[in-house]
Amino acid sequence: MSSFLGSSIGKKLIMSVTGLFLIMFLLVHLFLNLLTLVGSDVFNTAAHFMGTNPIMKVMEFALAAGFLFHMVYALYLTIVNQNARPVKYAVANKSKATSWASKNMLITGGVVLIFLVLHLMNYYYKIKFTDLIESGEMTEYDLVVGLFQPENWYYVVIYIGWFILLGLHLNHAFQSAFQTLGLNNKTWERRLIVIGNIYALVISIGFSIIPIYFFINSLM
Ligand code: HEM
Repeated sequence: MSSFLGSSIGKKLIMSVTGLFLIMFLLVHLFLNLLTLVGSDVFNTAAHFMGTNPIMKVMEFALAAGFLFHMVYALYLTIVNQNARPVKYAVANKSKATSWASKNMLITGGVVLIFLVLHLMNYYYKIKFTDLIESGEMTEYDLVVGLFQPENWYYVVIYIGWFILLGLHLNHAFQSAFQTLGLNNKTWERRLIVIGNIYALVISIGFSIIPIYFFINSLM
């Protein structure tokens, strides 16, 4: 078993399964954060529910852990591969297009990871490791909206840039994950490309709406 997981296809399978965690995490995270557009009470209630309900806490933790593992494991595999021989984790068939896509995946994935650290400092750290929320000084809604005010215009730019890169990464990742898991016949190949495109657009545009909405709203 351990030699299977250590094999090229085993590593690709680990990347696919943890990548699916990422895909699901992002949908849940997007849905929750879009509730900010509905209103502060709705968002704060949902955020409180996610943060206190034991099932949601476990689910969110498992999704986030799988997702972080996916990113760190990809970087680890690349470093190991570079030190050993030039075979990358996502390269099952070494056509020109495939190797270009996999190289691009590392760049987009790496930059997404760097922005994720900034994002966790902006929100996760403040919510979990300071008493801003506990003390009642701020709500989660205030934190989200506060980041996208005109004086923080650069955060609007940084976040939108992040979502575009994330979309590019997901566009290839989606079809690649499902192909590795067995959906690799001709009909499904085409369907997965379309579904992957739609998914990447929903994530990129969906998340971008949040900073754009609050930035424009605060100018009016
Ligand atoms: C405008 C878009 C986004 C907003 C407003 C937002 C907001 C938040 C907030 C408020 C938290 C803290 C939740 C809590 O602990 O109570 C959080 C956590 C987190 N966010 Fe985001 N997020 C956005 C986009 C993203 C994206 C695109 C990713 C991934 C690429 C991401 C990944 C995470 C992760 C991994 C956590 C920590 C786990 C968790 O608490 O759920 N977020 N985000």
